[in-house]
Amino acid sequence: MTAPAEPLVPGGAPEGGAPEGGAPAGGAADPARLVREVARRRTFAIISHPDAGKTTLTEKLLLYGGAIHLAGSVKARRATRHATSDWMKLEQERGISVTSSVLQFEYLGCQLNLLDTPGHEDFSEDTYRTLVAADSAIMLLDNRKGVEERTRQLFDVCKRRRTPIFTLVNKCDRHGEDPLKLLQDVEADLGIDCYAATWPVFDADVFVGVYDRLTREVHLFERSGDRGATRAGDTVVAIDDPALAGAMAPGAFDRLMADVELLDAAGHAYEHARVIDGTLTPVFFGSALTNFGIEPFLREFLQLAPPPGPREASTGPVAPTRPDFTGFVFKIQANMDPKHRDRVAFVRVVSGRFAGGLTVLHQRTGKPMRLAAPQQFMARDRVAVEEAWPGDVVGIMDRGTLRIGDTLGGDGTLEFQGIPRFAPEHFARAMPADPMKRKQFDLGLRQLTEEGAAQVFYTDTAAGSQPIVGAVGQLQFDVMAFRLEHEYAAPCRFEKMTHRWPRWVTGPKAEVERVCAGTGRLRVYDHKGAVVLLFQDSWALRRALQHETAVTFHETAP
Ligand code: G4P
Repeated sequence: MTAPAEPLVPGGAPEGGAPEGGAPAGGAADPARLVREVARRRTFAIISHPDAGKTTLTEKLLLYGGAIHLAGSVKARRATRHATSDWMKLEQERGISVTSSVLQFEYLGCQLNLLDTPGHEDFSEDTYRTLVAADSAIMLLDNRKGVEERTRQLFDVCKRRRTPIFTLVNKCDRHGEDPLKLLQDVEADLGIDCYAATWPVFDADVFVGVYDRLTREVHLFERSGDRGATRAGDTVVAIDDPALAGAMAPGAFDRLMADVELLDAAGHAYEHARVIDGTLTPVFFGSALTNFGIEPFLREFLQLAPPPGPREASTGPVAPTRPDFTGFVFKIQANMDPKHRDRVAFVRVVSGRFAGGLTVLHQRTGKPMRLAAPQQFMARDRVAVEEAWPGDVVGIMDRGTLRIGDTLGGDGTLEFQGIPRFAPEHFARAMPADPMKRKQFDLGLRQLTEEGAAQVFYTDTAAGSQPIVGAVGQLQFDVMAFRLEHEYAAPCRFEKMTHRWPRWVTGPKAEVERVCAGTGRLRVYDHKGAVVLLFQDSWALRRALQHETAVTFHETAP
């Protein structure tokens, strides 16, 4: 076991130790403390295709972080999953994680904030928005499958935002694609250069260790026999230590030496600036199931992943070390506790120190707002927080004032940018199964769409017109139906529509009218009354885009 007691990050608290020092209550942060707290934070998300091992890896990160003490055996693991990261009954019934949660834990003096992105078959705007709140991403790949569809979609969002990506090739305990071939595929498929930061060591075909190219050390694992329930023990030997040859099977040693030579001669060089701007990804190899390679990965990740940086705002970039608190809402979740009709806004702290009971300016309304009952989340357990720092996520109880994208703090001119809206890809007419429940149905639909669970459109601007729900993924309809029934006692029916491909239309009124009347087009209105056209097929859309030059089409609300 090689975990040192000293912190990895300058200024970081020792593992498990409470950060020292204080801050003036309710006022600006002590500047030296603020700098230290920022330096030791890592806020990240895991992007992967279902089944690559995200749940298993999350659990192992928590194991290494000391947040849990025993990772579950296969069956218990399913139970743990529900106990630690699922909120909704639906998730438990389907065995999927529908909502994003934030897991916070410490490791070697660093404070890690893992923003959990839903990993089910379908996904929603929430997933994308969560990536906006992250400072880096771990791209988890299955060693047999490499880059898969969902990974690609999530990678694209990260690439657009130049998010640093750390790749972990998982499941190396079983035979997979040749590691070099995997690197080539990632480069060709995603257009990002790879730097092999660790390299798998095989004895015959058995995964026995990793070579850490950054520390030039070989980790040889000890089999625990408990299927990864506890940390993996390892022996660490420097690559140029003459004892290494004796510590390994001859075939494994020769193969490793040949691989090292090849990588040094032919691979990309490590350039930290390129990692930070998202054009070079350090690649690690491991097995979340057996824990092999997970600790070297975690240690390098903490060293290389960036702490919270400046965020773009209308007034220019906001540095995390700016003394006053600022932050933005990236997610809203209603009714997390079915016993109390509550609504929690998740705020990513951008600058300064967040203190419980702080009163800040709510930029959109221009009104001061007391941030009551702030909470941090260790999955289902809510822990009242006294303070939080840049990179942290706090859940704020809210009666309905906060919306996704809202800025908190600042002087009223500062507004954070970059919380994207996404064009829905599926549409369905929504109606209450029981007409007597119309009121609850309308209320539920309004609240759930405010929360960002899906977008709602209407066939007419008049009150009582037919609602149409637009979603990025099909599963969002199931989630909405479930929540309308369980949280608002308003069971509903969805009728899937063939019209999709939405475009917001702006231009001279008469022209908009004319364009809306064309064949294969259906006019609807968004919740603000803006005109949106849905098209029957991609051909109808293409034709409109080519010929209707008197109006402007927008992919999302202008
Ligand atoms: P996900 O959240 O990305 O969907 O993946 P999850 O962790 O649930 O893992 C999917 C399957 O892959 C699970 O097997 C899990 O045990 C397995 N797995 C995860 N990491 C590794 C690894 O490093 N090596 C190997 N060999 N398998 C791994 P399952 O049979 O679907 O579920 P379970 O019965 O094991 O829970």
